[in-house]
Amino acid sequence: MTVTIAVAGKGGTGKTTLSGLLVRHLMNEKGGKILAIDADPSSNLHLVLDLKLSQTVGDIREEARSGVTPGTTRQDFLSYAVRMAVEEGDDFDLLAMGRPEGQGCYCAANHMLRSIIDGINKGYDYVVMDNEAGMEHLSRRTTRDVDYLLLVSDASMRGMVAAETMVGMSKDLEINVKNTFLIVNRVQGKLTPESSTVRAGR
Ligand SMILES: Nc1ncnc2c1ncn2[C@@H]1O[C@H](COP(=O)(O)OP(=O)(O)OP(=O)(O)O)[C@@H](O)[C@H]1O
Ligand SMILES: [Mg+2]
Repeated sequence: MTVTIAVAGKGGTGKTTLSGLLVRHLMNEKGGKILAIDADPSSNLHLVLDLKLSQTVGDIREEARSGVTPGTTRQDFLSYAVRMAVEEGDDFDLLAMGRPEGQGCYCAANHMLRSIIDGINKGYDYVVMDNEAGMEHLSRRTTRDVDYLLLVSDASMRGMVAAETMVGMSKDLEINVKNTFLIVNRVQGKLTPESSTVRAGR
């Protein structure tokens, strides 16, 4: 069974840093097959993990839009291209989502991409997903199960409120989250009483 860990929170609070640390922790302490997913359109998880990034799922979607080689089905092309886009590290792999689906439905290809990515996820023991604040990618998976949702905030009220909003968002998006944790990063001194009155847990 794949353990899915999603990291989300307000911009600049340390999501990518935490995702990178988490991948390293799993690698050192747990072992097994680990897939890091960069679900932020501005893809930078590879920099933290020190891997090169040659192609994103967004690039592949655009390529497929302009047609595939005659004799190849779109499904075959997408399946092959996404598997090729998985960057292989020594102890973990990385897949970057790149730019989102965007306006104008390209439904058939998007649906195929979602099930291809979910199929890839199933081959790993751990999937660590670094999300942008809107959790767009999480809402678009065909599998809605998330074992751990880690909400990252700084010590500010705005960060805490954003984390709390994301708990509501995950419910609205019907994501089946088993465990939610609030991680308060970059705390200097103690948390203020105002911050600690906001509850982000379930
Ligand atoms: N605990 C910490 N102490 C010091 N610096 C930190 C800490 N956590 C994160 N940073 C730094 O803060 C900056 C923002 O971190 P990071 O990119 O991980 O945030 P993010 O939430 O992923 O941002 P974005 O919303 O833009 O994706 C980086 O320069 C990172 O090195
Ligand atoms: Mg980030």
